[in-house]
Amino acid sequence: MRRDGLHARLRAATDPAHRALEAGLDWQARVATLPGYRDLLARLHGFHASWEHAIGAQLADEPFLAPRRRLALLAADLDHLGLAPAAVVALPRPEPIALDGPAAAMGALYVLEGSTLGGQLIGRHIAGLHGFSETGLTYYRAHGPRTGAMWAAFRTRLEDFADDPAAETALTGAAVATFAAMRAWLCAPHAMPAAG
Ligand code: HEM
Repeated sequence: MRRDGLHARLRAATDPAHRALEAGLDWQARVATLPGYRDLLARLHGFHASWEHAIGAQLADEPFLAPRRRLALLAADLDHLGLAPAAVVALPRPEPIALDGPAAAMGALYVLEGSTLGGQLIGRHIAGLHGFSETGLTYYRAHGPRTGAMWAAFRTRLEDFADDPAAETALTGAAVATFAAMRAWLCAPHAMPAAG
């Protein structure tokens, strides 16, 4: 009875946070210029650096996580946009989230992985604006034509936690906290060193 519903419940529980992030991000205005796009990628770099580390430590399943890590893609795109590797490494990072166990790690990863879905649309928009095909756009391209298959595999893995209410609570809490932290980090008014 519970097995097919975890994803639906998680999506419903995080829907207000997704809407708030989408509205606060104002992504079309930010990617309209190359400095704006670079600032957004610089912030995402800090966020992924902190979160991917925390998720990796608690999920303890590198074969599943490795193809979903996108920190190196952000570094490559920033390099293409003129930010030297030493400057990329020195970019600010938020305080990492405290995750207690694999269920919480999956909740945090749900937010990062789900962002590859809307990211396809954002990537196509940036490609049209700035003429990038792959180089400079690898973060938003993400899984590309494999997006649907990667998301299906992620959802299958989510259901491992469907029969465990305590795990579902931890998972949902980490997802909501990740959305809130991402909104605070991406939408904060401070300027990034990369904004140039
Ligand atoms: C960094 C910011 C964002 C994060 C973290 C994020 C996160 C997510 C997550 C977790 C999902 C999966 C929902 C589910 O369980 O089905 C999702 C789906 C989706 N997001 Fe976002 N999102 C972000 C920004 C955006 C933006 C700006 C847009 C608008 C262009 C957008 C459009 C969508 C769409 C259309 C889907 C559904 C795709 C599908 O079902 O095929 N997202 N997003």
